[in-house]
Amino acid sequence: MTPTQQKDFGAQWRAEWADANKIRAPGMKDASPFYRNIEAELDLARSGGGALALHPNTDVTDVSSCDILGLGHSGALREEFLKELAAHPNFYVGAGGTRLLNGTTSYQMQVESELAELMGYESALVVHSGCTANQAIWSTVPRTGDVIVYDELSHATALMGMKISLALEQRPFKHNDVEHFIEVLESVKESMPLVRDGKRCVIIGVESWYSMNGDICPLRELIAAANDIFPHGNAQFVVDEAHSYGVCGPDGTGFVRELGLTDQVAITMATFTKALACAGGIILSNNTIRRLLINHIRLTTSRVGQQARDHVYDLVRFYLDTLTSHPTYKRAHRRGMLDMPHFEDDGMWHEVPITHLVPLWCRRPNHALYLAFHLTRAGFNPCNIAFPIVGKGEDRVRLTLHAYNTREEMVRLVESIMEFTEEMFAIEASGDKTRLPAAARLAYALFDEATAEGGHSDEEEGGKNTSNSNSSTNSVNGEEEHVHNLAASKDVVSRGPVPITV
Ligand SMILES: Cc1ncc(COP(=O)(O)O)c(C=O)c1O
Repeated sequence: MTPTQQKDFGAQWRAEWADANKIRAPGMKDASPFYRNIEAELDLARSGGGALALHPNTDVTDVSSCDILGLGHSGALREEFLKELAAHPNFYVGAGGTRLLNGTTSYQMQVESELAELMGYESALVVHSGCTANQAIWSTVPRTGDVIVYDELSHATALMGMKISLALEQRPFKHNDVEHFIEVLESVKESMPLVRDGKRCVIIGVESWYSMNGDICPLRELIAAANDIFPHGNAQFVVDEAHSYGVCGPDGTGFVRELGLTDQVAITMATFTKALACAGGIILSNNTIRRLLINHIRLTTSRVGQQARDHVYDLVRFYLDTLTSHPTYKRAHRRGMLDMPHFEDDGMWHEVPITHLVPLWCRRPNHALYLAFHLTRAGFNPCNIAFPIVGKGEDRVRLTLHAYNTREEMVRLVESIMEFTEEMFAIEASGDKTRLPAAARLAYALFDEATAEGGHSDEEEGGKNTSNSNSSTNSVNGEEEHVHNLAASKDVVSRGPVPITV
């Protein structure tokens, strides 16, 4: 039995998608322009089916959450939390105010000092989230006259901090490209005499493992180059370990520790929201940086592991072997339909360094979304990623593998991807540019229903308006079949203007 002949798990996901993509502004003629304009802007993304929805977790095969080690999934975290609570019966539950006023407890201070010791840094500062940590670092640490040099794929939360930084000079370098990094540093040296003379600093931003590509920063090479070009010690690194913290390094302490580079990286930040299955973020640094942060940021309220890590990597290898050795994958790669970032030209992975993040690049328009429909229907929960989270034409389905995933699930996953791919081959061979794959047809039928309601919203009853419909109904072999006018949707402004951090 092929995956799509099994139970359909994707109905809820498609309904949430269709609801999120319902055109709303035309039905709001009498509403305040405040709301109507916002809905009109969201409609731009909706008309291409690209508006995002919140999808509550359902009981399907998890190939996308960030609970990599299964600490949340297994209940281990809950158990530890309850034990810790029992050991501290007088534990103060409450914020007490901002951390700078009454919001810091001695328990928090102890946690910070234990984390600092574990991570090999002088100090640690725990904040709400990785987002807060990045914004705090980048809006605070670079001072007037300094320059920020950062990998072009740096996370949106770091870029948001940079936007309000005192360092007006900010230069990206090509992703993971050591040669281009050197070029950028040389150009800084030439054009900024105070930096060249070691009076002002270069603050360099990279991530350890990049979530959208699943590739790894050449950190050692970047540090060597920076020390060479700026021998006064005024080039300093900030490493975002969001995706490696808990997953690699001794006792899961991360990538910087794994490389033994703690003393060469001024600041490491990590989030607890991924492998640690919690909330919060951490900034590791020396006491000078901690003092600066406390004074300048807005501090607001607020051996199981090793086995799990080994299992994840075994599973990633198994998945990649199974996928890339599949004849359908090879054909899809040759035809430029599927690929994986940073793999060789032949689409094989040749044992290049891997992470638990395994994005599948869908190189044809809309295929990432269609594949997401297909996989959700088969009982997986993929993450389809589109512009503006990644560049135009770089849509992908991001899969994240976990300690609790099994080899059988990986086989089923690959089969399901391959089934979709065969379906797309057949559609391409038919020459019918309007034909959608089966799971997408189900989703677009809902989209059409919503659009046929005339873009009249839940908020207001109004006249019918079908002008946004890109779809029609055909009769094929006596069966009603929805087709979607892809030519029309391609003209529509691509995936929405909504700022997202993933
Ligand atoms: C690289 C990176 N940095 C920072 C963050 C922000 O972390 P948080 O979700 O804890 O705010 C994320 C979240 O996805 C991330 O991927």
